Amino acid sequence: MAVIAGNWKMHLGPHETRGFFKDFDTSVLETGHELILFPSTASLGAAFLARGEAVKGIGLGVQNIHWEDAGAFTGETSAPIAANAGAEFALIGHSERRHVFGETDEETTRKVAAARRHGLVPVLCVGETLAERRAGRVDEVILRQLDAALGDLDVEDKRFLVAYEPVWAIGTGETATPDDASAAHATLRARLSDAVGAERASRVPILYGGSVKPENAEELMAAENVDGVLVGGASLDPVSFAAIVRAAGKPR
Ligand code: 13P
Repeated sequence: MAVIAGNWKMHLGPHETRGFFKDFDTSVLETGHELILFPSTASLGAAFLARGEAVKGIGLGVQNIHWEDAGAFTGETSAPIAANAGAEFALIGHSERRHVFGETDEETTRKVAAARRHGLVPVLCVGETLAERRAGRVDEVILRQLDAALGDLDVEDKRFLVAYEPVWAIGTGETATPDDASAAHATLRARLSDAVGAERASRVPILYGGSVKPENAEELMAAENVDGVLVGGASLDPVSFAAIVRAAGKPR
């Protein structure tokens, strides 16, 4: 089974969100793959209602949370508020959070802990910039980002997902080759294995993200150690998102 997730970033308001669900071909749920959508926080309620019974098989999440449970943090959303609004997952450390908003590893550590405290499944995003790739620092960067989030993972058997999203492949039309993705995913899997044992590490889905489209999804998802995809732009259209789900083929 693959995990196919859509990060809507700062797109699709409540009205458009209802339209997405209305137009989404729910027969793709029969493929048995796990689907998750990350609407903007303001559209989460609309997504929760629009999903209704018919498409209950689609998980919902938020794109970011604050590490505190409550307080004077204007503009922020806490893990308990997100959970109360219907979120089951939280993206943490997305490259736009890190590179546009200056989020640090220390903050991702605290956000992962907050998600776990409130029953949200963390989806930790890691990935190197083009300069870091050119300098041969891919493994160093992604392992540092992963280590920051491992925390108490070794003692708690709670669900956890990782998304490898090379910064240079996000929104650029550039996609990592299946071999690039496989190599980075193998590095992450080996570290997870050291931290929590091979059996549990094999149960942590590692998704690839960065310019995933219906045309390239199949070969990316067929790559070794790639357990699914985290899709930005191509997840905004219900037809292309459904096409990506179909590209995952029959669950392995
Ligand atoms: P694009 O698919 O638009 O490149 O975005 C990838 C991404 O950042 C998903 O979180």
